[in-house]
Amino acid sequence: MNYCFLTPSTEETSMKIGIIGAGFVARAIATLALRAGHQAMLSNARGPQTLFSLRAMIQCETGTPAQAAEFGDIVVIAVPLTAIDQLPAPQLAGKAVIDAVNYYPDRDGQVAALDAKTLTTSELLARNLPGARITKAFNAIPMKQLESDGLPAGVAGRRALPLAGDFSEDKKQVIALYEAFGFDAVDAGPLAEGWRFERGMPAYCVRMTQETLRAALSGATR
Ligand SMILES: NC(=O)c1ccc[n+]([C@@H]2O[C@H](COP(=O)([O-])OP(=O)(O)OC[C@H]3O[C@@H](n4cnc5c(N)ncnc54)[C@H](OP(=O)(O)O)[C@@H]3O)[C@@H](O)[C@H]2O)c1
Repeated sequence: MNYCFLTPSTEETSMKIGIIGAGFVARAIATLALRAGHQAMLSNARGPQTLFSLRAMIQCETGTPAQAAEFGDIVVIAVPLTAIDQLPAPQLAGKAVIDAVNYYPDRDGQVAALDAKTLTTSELLARNLPGARITKAFNAIPMKQLESDGLPAGVAGRRALPLAGDFSEDKKQVIALYEAFGFDAVDAGPLAEGWRFERGMPAYCVRMTQETLRAALSGATR
């Protein structure tokens, strides 16, 4: 893999990224983050001893979900929707949290409030994490493409990725990560607007530039 699109962090911009999950999303974000000069800790359901090989392969830290939550300046939730009621809520209170979770009924079972569209997946996560500052991000791109589609800033046709959240300082950090990984960003607004790039929406997992993504987000209907 050629990682020439990565924007390296400096001592001031280097982040500690805790990740709850150690699957496709966790590995892709940890790999890119480490290569961009950040630190990362992965965690999973079965315990850090099961991450022995992954730790050596990615060269990241490993720990329990609670340790990853404590480690991170920013903490990525990269688990199936069915696991969001098992997260270390006390350690995540007051933290900047990135919500990468998507809803797939075939995998996760039917969730009435999501099917009725009275809640978004991120609002459901927020109910499980009182006091956490949640930004929805990294949801609308397959992880293989997160690792392959990045381009340096300013290159024509650079792919853009959406985010949504209620905390502007946290959003700046997410935008900095998108930027470092080789992507433009489009802010879809507050967390409640996250439905605009949920599964099935025009912006979901489709390659778009900033301009086309903005149009897809604003033209989405629920
Ligand atoms: N794959 C993609 O391209 C992609 C892109 C965007 C968003 N997403 C979304 O991101 C989430 C993760 O997807 P993924 O593809 O990375 O899934 P995955 O490869 O199946 O990995 C899921 C990870 O979550 C861990 N986990 C499950 N329950 C847990 C718990 N209670 N506490 C801590 N960790 C737990 C699993 O632990 P073990 O290792 O112990 O099994 C596993 O490491 C999903 O909601 C998915 O829809 C996926």
